[in-house]
Amino acid sequence: MRARSAIVLVLAFAAALAWAQPDLRRWLPLARDGLHDPASPATRQLQEPREALSLLAPDTAGNQVRWVESLERGQIAPRSTIDPGTQVRVLDDEILLNLHGGTPIVRFPHRAHTLWLDCSNCHEEIFRSKAGANRLDMRKILQGEQCGVCHGAVAFPLTECGRCHSVPRARTGQGQAAARGATPAAPGAPGP
Ligand code: HEC
Ligand code: HEC
Ligand code: HEC
Repeated sequence: MRARSAIVLVLAFAAALAWAQPDLRRWLPLARDGLHDPASPATRQLQEPREALSLLAPDTAGNQVRWVESLERGQIAPRSTIDPGTQVRVLDDEILLNLHGGTPIVRFPHRAHTLWLDCSNCHEEIFRSKAGANRLDMRKILQGEQCGVCHGAVAFPLTECGRCHSVPRARTGQGQAAARGATPAAPGAPGP
């Protein structure tokens, strides 16, 4: 009996810990980020990153925000155009890349990209808009080409292998539904 209540206590404690998980994210204050002039009075007028970013979906990499999740949860609503005549195009498909490699398959979601970017940001300069028409190469990506033009610069860093290589090989045949279900959650990120 005593062992049982001890287990219950331990479980309750673990649950409380999980519930009260502290936000361990840290952002440098503007005056110390090496970009803003600490002597300028204008720097003090700006919102501190911590104030804004701590409210968004947490990540453990890059600038510690899951941007696509924050957008889809409605935590942010970025303005998509400046010029009212601009046509906004969102493409809702997913392309599986690297079908013959040794690492898990790379899932490229057009939607998560076209929510922020225009087609012309990628086509036809970085990528030709034809399946299989690009010689994708991890070495080039690591050197800042192809996906690496943005990933590691303005989007989540290349150390997050599993976010691109997200589809286990055994599930290739199951198509896009499998691809979608296979996106790994970041450790520490809350469930959907
Ligand atoms: C931004 C997305 C992205 C990230 C992050 C990324 N990769 Fe890749 N990776 C790709 C793409 C795209 C290819 C090219 C697919 C092809 O060859 O057709 C690739 C190809 C590869 C290949 C060669 C093909 C294979 O499966 O054998 C290896 C190995 C590889 N990546 C390893 C890694 C490792 C290790 C990491 C983490 C350090 C990583 N990648 C992170 C997108 C990514
Ligand atoms: C972030 C970069 C990026 C953006 C933005 C982007 N694409 Fe793509 N697109 C790709 C990549 C990568 C491929 C895969 C090419 C390959 O397989 O070699 C691709 C493939 C395609 C293809 C051929 C495969 C298919 O699905 O039929 C078409 C068509 C296409 N894109 C249209 C568009 C349109 C239209 C937009 C804007 C609404 C757009 N893309 C925005 C990166 C992008
Ligand atoms: C022109 C810039 C650009 C290029 C090129 C680019 N991406 Fe991205 N990608 C982004 C941005 C911006 C985001 C959203 C911010 C983030 O998640 O960090 C994103 C997000 C993603 C996501 C996360 C989607 C989600 O639901 O969280 C994946 C996966 C991804 N990219 C894969 C790729 C792969 C694979 C390539 C190359 C074939 C690529 N990206 C090329 C800009 C780019």
